[in-house]
Amino acid sequence: MTSLTPESTRGEASLVKALAMLSPEEIDRSREILVREGLVTENTHFSYFGLCEPDKRELLGETGPPAPRRFRALLIDMSTGESHDVIVCPAEDRVVSSIVLDTATNGSVPVVMQEFAMVEEIVHRDERWLAAMRRRGLTDLSVLRAQPLSAGAALNDDERGRRLQRVFTFVQKNENDLPWAHPVDGVTAYVDVISREVIDVVDHVVLEVPQEDGNFHDPDFNGPLRTGLKPIEITQPQGPSFHIENGVLDWLGWRLQVGYDSREGLVLRDISIEDEGRRRSLIYRASIAEMVVPYGDPSPQRFFQNFFDSGEYLLGSFANSLELGCDCLGEITYLDVVVADNSGRPRTIPQAICIHEEDAGILWKHTDSFTKSTDTRRNRRLVVSFFVTVGNYDYGFYWYFYLDGKIELEVKATGVVFTSGYPGKGYKYASELAPGLGGPHHQHLFSARLDMMVDGPTNAVDELEAVLVPRGPENPTGTGITQRVTRLRTESEAQRLADNTKGRVWRIVNPQVQNRLGEDVGYVLYPEGRPVLLADAQSDIHQRATFATKHLWVTRYAPDEQYPAGDFVNQHPGGAGIPQWVEADRDVDGADIVVWHTFGMTHFPRPEDWPIMPVDSTGFVLKPHGFFGRNPTLDVPPSEGDHCHPGGADHGSHVHH
Ligand code: CO
Repeated sequence: MTSLTPESTRGEASLVKALAMLSPEEIDRSREILVREGLVTENTHFSYFGLCEPDKRELLGETGPPAPRRFRALLIDMSTGESHDVIVCPAEDRVVSSIVLDTATNGSVPVVMQEFAMVEEIVHRDERWLAAMRRRGLTDLSVLRAQPLSAGAALNDDERGRRLQRVFTFVQKNENDLPWAHPVDGVTAYVDVISREVIDVVDHVVLEVPQEDGNFHDPDFNGPLRTGLKPIEITQPQGPSFHIENGVLDWLGWRLQVGYDSREGLVLRDISIEDEGRRRSLIYRASIAEMVVPYGDPSPQRFFQNFFDSGEYLLGSFANSLELGCDCLGEITYLDVVVADNSGRPRTIPQAICIHEEDAGILWKHTDSFTKSTDTRRNRRLVVSFFVTVGNYDYGFYWYFYLDGKIELEVKATGVVFTSGYPGKGYKYASELAPGLGGPHHQHLFSARLDMMVDGPTNAVDELEAVLVPRGPENPTGTGITQRVTRLRTESEAQRLADNTKGRVWRIVNPQVQNRLGEDVGYVLYPEGRPVLLADAQSDIHQRATFATKHLWVTRYAPDEQYPAGDFVNQHPGGAGIPQWVEADRDVDGADIVVWHTFGMTHFPRPEDWPIMPVDSTGFVLKPHGFFGRNPTLDVPPSEGDHCHPGGADHGSHVHH
């Protein structure tokens, strides 16, 4: 399909530039054009602004300089709700296209900050909501915090086409008090954020407001600090082993371009690895393209609770500024990112991306009784990460690259569990976190979009499984095991669940490139194999998050297929994204393919998750399988011996203090 070899995509300044992160000038220039063309008025909010992903086939196929960069702006007029999906090109000084969204049918643009800000005031003046509060003995408005939540699918014709938030209430005793400790459960207000009115109040059940505080951020609350923690310091006296220039990161053979998007967060581009002097491509583009947190309590006040943190909330826009000595240890390189704020002006998030290097334990080791040799090598990894806060939860996304060709993604979930009232012992759909405080059961499901390019764009996926060969002449002892290889030929065949009892994994191969043993080169995706979306097939969330019902999907590359739950997830009725694309049932055997991997945790909150949750992790691993001809780390030198100290010794002054 493209005449370009993978090598020629690497290190070319024009390609790097075509995919670079947003600059403040590009945002300003785009805004000027949109204002000039009448698309931005005083009531317009920029819901999303980002690089319009170039068609990969054109980008890789081009010989001259790439086409000028285009940007996508999702705009909403908050006085009318009218929303536009606009492509703008500053270099050509023009709006390329502009579409008015049919929000009743096709979903809405992501939530804008103003919606968070306005809801409390709207709720506080609604008679039905005030009556519900009075019913609970709550009359002091100054302590009642409104928590707006994305609305999910429309519940009836009256809701269709309206822009909604569904609103819970929490008590905040004073400005230092954590409201999540005191949910006012049983009441939900439905708010139209365009007409700025409460359209309905569900007052289902009166549950006592839990009184115990959860103020982990207050030193007095936590009591005396434990003692005995001696310092651990990481020193890299010669600096880190990586190098970054114009967003292109080089580390011990690995090369990748670091990108960032306000919807997806980190976008890693053009991931390649050097092998005996050759640069070999692995992944054209890797990102977490969607995530959803479906809640599993079907009660009338909270059945709608499903948060798409990417498609509804733009998790990348909530990146934390990371600080040395706090989030990461060692020699850290930080990258700032620039996003557009809701007024369409550049907003810099300082130190949003963290890049560092870590020891990763033993790489390989053997003591041989024949040769009397003892050899050990240590592994290490390059870490590219960012952390976001989306409402109550905080998520860290950590991409790891190892010396042996392994790639790993770890998502760390922490923060505050979403709380409810706890109806009483034996309640099925929540656990009790503290006296009277519930933690509704829920899932955190992520979709990794892996635009694979294993030694070039022509790839295919095999499913590998461990199987017992039936006892018979071929296997007389009944002990013969083998690996079954099944090629997933079409998009309908490539919709798979993990099965850890069979060791089921998926190998992405290039049928056109063989290793020295004559086998197709490949990389294997190892799923964790935890539960996919549990909600049943008739539920709204099943329709809206169909991507999360399988661990694996493989689709044919198409430039506009970026988001697995569709482009407009907010209030979308369902069916968009992957389920729509795969209806074509395209051929994915020896084609330019995209691998979509669902992973995540199913969370039954523990008392230990309150009042702040220790990090829980989920993710996946990609490992070379026949990609190299042998162990690619034989050239790793042994560590310097003086880094191993017997306990308590005080030599090696660069380590001890
Ligand atoms: Co959770």
